[in-house]
Parts: sequence; C-alpha cells; structure tokens
Amino acid sequence: MSVKQIITLKNSQGMKIKLSNWGATWLSCTMQVEGKNRELILGCQSFEQYEQQDAYLGATVGRYANRIANAEIDIAGKHYQLIANQGVNQLHGGKSGFDKKIWKIESQSEQQVTFGLISPDGDQGFPGELKVTASYTLTDDNQVIVEYNASTTKCTPVNLTNHAYFNLDGETNDILAHSLKVNANYYLPVDANGIPCNDLLDVTQDDMDLRQLRVLSDNLLTSPARKITGGYDHAYLLDKSKPVAAQLVSSDKKVTMDVTTSYPALQVYTGNFLANTPNRHNGKYANFAGVALEAQFLPDSPHHLTWPQPSCFLEPGQTYHHQITYQFFIS
Ligand code: GAL
Repeated sequence: MSVKQIITLKNSQGMKIKLSNWGATWLSCTMQVEGKNRELILGCQSFEQYEQQDAYLGATVGRYANRIANAEIDIAGKHYQLIANQGVNQLHGGKSGFDKKIWKIESQSEQQVTFGLISPDGDQGFPGELKVTASYTLTDDNQVIVEYNASTTKCTPVNLTNHAYFNLDGETNDILAHSLKVNANYYLPVDANGIPCNDLLDVTQDDMDLRQLRVLSDNLLTSPARKITGGYDHAYLLDKSKPVAAQLVSSDKKVTMDVTTSYPALQVYTGNFLANTPNRHNGKYANFAGVALEAQFLPDSPHHLTWPQPSCFLEPGQTYHHQITYQFFIS
C-alpha cells in the first residue's frame, strides 16, 4: 500500500509522538511542560513540504547513513558504484534513500509501531536485498526507543539512524543556548564536504570537547574544525564505558534528553544548513533551529576498516540489530 499515514503513540504521562510510514519518519514529539504542550522536534506542516525539504527531518536514514566518499565501495574484490547525491559522494543512502520510501506498517499498538521495508538488490548501487524493520516504542517513563533490525542476501554496508532535530525550547528559539554533553574522547575531523580527512583526534584538539555540558554557541565558529562545517557537523566516537552517549538540556533548563545507544558513534549536527526548510507554522526554519544527534557508525566506514568500532558490513545469515533511546525528563 502506498498511502502515507500518520500514527500517534501516547503514554500515561501525556507524552505523544507522531510517526509516518513515509520514511519511517518521526514527525512530532510533545510533552506537557508547566501545563503547556511543548513540541520537542522539528517538522513540517504537510507531506508535500516533507517531500520538498532535504534536511531529512525525523527520517529513518539508510541504507548507509552519513557519507560514503566517491560513492563507491569494494567488497571481496568486487567494485560497486553507488548513486552519488552530494557532489561525487553519497549522503544518507543516495538519491532515493530509505527516508523517501513508503514503509509497510508491520504492527501497531497504543505505544509501539513497527515499519518494514525491503530494499532490493542493487538499490542505490548497494549489493544484496536488505530486509529492514524500524520500530518506535513510547514508554510510560517518557522514553522513545528506536530499534533497527536487518538481514541481507549479500554482504553490504548498513548504517541506519534517525534524523530527528531536537529543539527542547519548543521551537521558540534556536538551539544555540541549549547545552550538550557527549561522552566521547575522540572525534573525526572532516573536510568541507563532510568527508573524514584525518584519523580520529582527541577531543581536546580544536576545542571539540563536549565531555562536560557545554552551551552550543560557545566558540561555535571559532574552532577551525567547526569553521569548516559552519558549526558542529562531526562524528564523535562514543566512550562505551559511559552508559549515556549524550545529554541535551533546553535553554530554560526545563527539558533534558539523554541519548543511549548500541552504536559506536554519534553525529552531532547543529542544523548549519537548515535555512529555508519549511516549518510547521507556515514559515521557514533558520539555521541552528534544531540539533540532530544521530547515533550511527563513523562516516565513510566502508573505507576505514581499522577504525575502533564493530564492522559496518552485514553478511548473509547475520542479523543487524541496533537501538537508540531518547529519554526525556521535565523539571
Ligand atoms: C547530517 C549531515 C549534514 C547534512 C544533514 C542533512 O546528518 O551530517 O552534513 O547533510 O545531515 O542536511
């Protein structure tokens, strides 16, 4: 069935999330803050607008999230040319990535929905038919749990994530006065095209340290690493000895979100190119209107097999399973 649908999950605390089978997308996330409904993620007014924007708002991104340099991979001596959609590189799975597909609603209840997709052999240039599920669960203690499962008929790289942009102030301000903590000792330097251009570096280099809560505007465009990308747009290699990957705090300190994940890395993207993305209020978002915290493998991993993380390649007979939990707290 190719009809776009909206599914609403609600919990006993009055929290509500909206999802769509279009791109297995997270559309909305509202909570009661001091008796008022507050929207915590960015979104558009209509499906037409969702189709026009290229910011991947709330989408499930795949088959391979983030960039693959020169849109090419080699597997067991075989070369595969992928569909490039950002210059010569591939971003977020190619021109027709998972964010643009209509997924099947496989199961649905009050607090959970599971979307399924079959990506055919050769989809966007990738080898193997990939069967994927993305499920969202809203718990009564205000967690949104996202789980991905996948299996393949041929060895293929897989990197599935969610591309929600958070603005815990309720979209009233930009996110520059939010505070962010990321439990990571290393980050990946990138060039102006977002392609890793060096090995992992200690976060103390180039002022990229987020190990203590730090206001996002703090020296935002003064570090050479962030100047290149117009803000944060970097992968952090997570310190797996720490239970929480990241913590985001609204500027009024009333909303906190903890991110935990099975993934080895987290892309922090401060919405540096969000300008002109349609918003829910008949207008446009500006740059820095939201921050995306995308748990994933390091970008361009198929070309960097020695990086300290599990393999991003899925083999036939294996099951891909990863989870991202967003836990919200109101004070
Ligand atoms: C992010 C990526 C950014 C930008 C964005 C989509 O994941 O790191 O560079 O491409 O997606 O607009």
